[in-house]
Amino acid sequence: MTVLTTPSPEISEQVSQFLRQPHQLLVGGQWVDAASGKQFEVKDPASGETLTNVAEGDALDINAAVSAARHAFDEGPWPRMTSSERGKLIWKLADLLEAHLDEFAEIESLDNGKPRAVAAVADVPLAVDLFRYMAGWATKVEGSTIPISVPYMPDVEFHSYTLREPVGVVGQIIPWNFPLLMAAWKLGPALATGCTLILKAAEETPLSALRLGQLIQEAGFPPGVVNIITGFGETAGAALAAHPDVDKVAFTGSTEVGKLIVKAAGETNLKRITLELGGKSPNVILPDADLETAIPGAASAIFFNHGQCCCAGSRLFVHQSQFDQVVEGIASAASRIKVGPGMNPETEMGPMVSQIQQDRVCGYLESGLADGAKAVVGGSRLGDAGYFVEPTVLVDTRPDMSVMREEIFGPVVAAVPYDNLDKLVDAANDSVYGLAAAVWTRDVSQAHRLARKLRAGSVWVNCYNVFDAALPFGGYKQSGWGREMGREAIELYTETKAVTVRL
Ligand code: NAI
Ligand code: MG
Repeated sequence: MTVLTTPSPEISEQVSQFLRQPHQLLVGGQWVDAASGKQFEVKDPASGETLTNVAEGDALDINAAVSAARHAFDEGPWPRMTSSERGKLIWKLADLLEAHLDEFAEIESLDNGKPRAVAAVADVPLAVDLFRYMAGWATKVEGSTIPISVPYMPDVEFHSYTLREPVGVVGQIIPWNFPLLMAAWKLGPALATGCTLILKAAEETPLSALRLGQLIQEAGFPPGVVNIITGFGETAGAALAAHPDVDKVAFTGSTEVGKLIVKAAGETNLKRITLELGGKSPNVILPDADLETAIPGAASAIFFNHGQCCCAGSRLFVHQSQFDQVVEGIASAASRIKVGPGMNPETEMGPMVSQIQQDRVCGYLESGLADGAKAVVGGSRLGDAGYFVEPTVLVDTRPDMSVMREEIFGPVVAAVPYDNLDKLVDAANDSVYGLAAAVWTRDVSQAHRLARKLRAGSVWVNCYNVFDAALPFGGYKQSGWGREMGREAIELYTETKAVTVRL
């Protein structure tokens, strides 16, 4: 395998101009330098070269942003606006984002490494759709009226109802795999419910959040409603998780950091927490599946976004009788993938997001191969510059190997044969994670039966990686707490207040 060498188009004038601007922090409606004055470099993962510098926010900047968000929540125009006005602002943000779709796709491709064409049909439109879906929710956050009996006050009448109120000031810490979309998943429900927030972008990919911040200003959100901090996890992220005046933290990232966030909340103010963490998702092909769709489906389940998906189908279970055929099909699909810079229009798979991620994925490959696994295709890093890894299909793994137990977060699938359906369910569920799972079959009953038995927050049947703003997404077990998107996200950004009136 080689990295595409055909030239990529130049960066557009619009994006060049954005890259040349100073990249500051958005605090209380103003763009400001980090209190320390520090900045850090943003790299192009396709070349390892520096794209631009951004402000390095830390605990001091988090303090300022939390104060601004607190002020906006308690005193600003935001809490006095009607839900319809809030919904309109969110819709306006969606319109602005849509109007800048190509620009965002380019920024996302440069910063994260993903193919620009993919960002233009997936990341950006999904973010637009999420904001529109959540704009609709702004006017539909309702409580209920509840008849109560109160056995020790038999002669008294009451009127009881619930209010759903915004949870308050929310800290939102996002990862680098879908930078803009993760920002949208977080901002949408917070804004729809009337919260104010501090978004901490991932240090690997801060750019689309900063451009989104400009559109948030342009849309006319009151100052302090959305604050955006670029900076590192150990400093800015940790300060947000531990801040006593933050009412909730919503986090997407590694299970390891998810546990640190729970600890920080436990040691400070017991803030509410939602977590969307890692996965090791089983993808099951039953013997009656239509292999014409299951084979490319299983390839895309792992290779989409270079395997840097929390729900990637990284453990592939195939019946013994079809194992060789399926493995050959996926290996052949893998070897045909065009790997190159995201900006190259021919590219189907870009680089890993960072040197660290490339090293991490290659470390897993080395350990798996040393433990006796075999790479049918791929198995190592690729190219001299940039952070590329070969699309890889592993066989001959054992359930105890780290490549079978831990999230690799790269284009690496382990294919495992099975012969017995009961044991298959146990093997599929044999993970500390429970984010997603998939079943490929023509047997409707079997599909529903397995969907019930698989311990995962999303189960796809004859498809994979299907997301919608209306569908809740999140994990069982150590894949997280709570759900993103859908009605469930709205509920998780509100507190329930029970009001009882004696009549
Ligand atoms: P990470 O969990 O360290 O980073 C995600 C976000 O958390 C970033 O914004 C980072 O700045 C922040 N963060 C890091 N340490 C923090 C701390 N102590 N307190 C508060 N915030 C903190 O993930 P990383 O290091 O980028 O990737 C490591 C592995 O995590 C990946 O290989 C993958 O397995 C998993 N991961 C899972 C993601 C998912 O979508 N569930 C996304 C990114 C990574
Ligand atoms: Mg980390």
